[in-house]
Amino acid sequence: TSLLILWALTGYLLGSVPFGVLVSRMMGLGNLREIGSGNIGATNVLRTGSKPAAIATLLLDGAKGAVVLLLARALTGEDAAQLAAVMAMLGHCFPVWLGFKGGKGVATFIGILLAFAWPVGLAVCLAWLVGAGLSRMSSMGGLLAAASSTILMVVLGAGHGLVMGIVLTLLVFWRHRENIARIKAGTEPRIGKKG
Ligand code: G3P
Repeated sequence: TSLLILWALTGYLLGSVPFGVLVSRMMGLGNLREIGSGNIGATNVLRTGSKPAAIATLLLDGAKGAVVLLLARALTGEDAAQLAAVMAMLGHCFPVWLGFKGGKGVATFIGILLAFAWPVGLAVCLAWLVGAGLSRMSSMGGLLAAASSTILMVVLGAGHGLVMGIVLTLLVFWRHRENIARIKAGTEPRIGKKG
């Protein structure tokens, strides 16, 4: 049990590192909170106009979920891995450093799934591409990826992660409440346009 608590803490702390804020600041792109949607994720970093910064944010936010899952799996076991991953997602979405106002979790969620079972991760990436590609909205990609993830887990033989998958999916949807309202109202910004 004490090991599980340690992994939960490690996951939360690593997950709560706001790479989008840090990368934007280090690259002199300004305060991400005052740009576009004000979100800390790669989509909003792209609104600063810097593709390299957005890609770095995407990779780092994805990696923090993947790394903590793989570490916990290698050192402790599958339960610790899934717990650490969920805690990393919670850390990203509700970081203590930012007054619990964090990101929307799509990159971290995809990183976790790639590390958990790469075929599921790849299929979820594809779902993101289809959703975002058809709608030109990043949020739509994330929502479609999340919505399809649990089904993909079952179909691709990774059903042992179903509880984790459901929790991650609910978190993605919860954090996209404003995006969902804008999609309904027809005011959600398209990728490549300033939000
Ligand atoms: O991953 C976040 C994305 O789905 C939406 O971000 O900045 O457009 O609200 P944003």
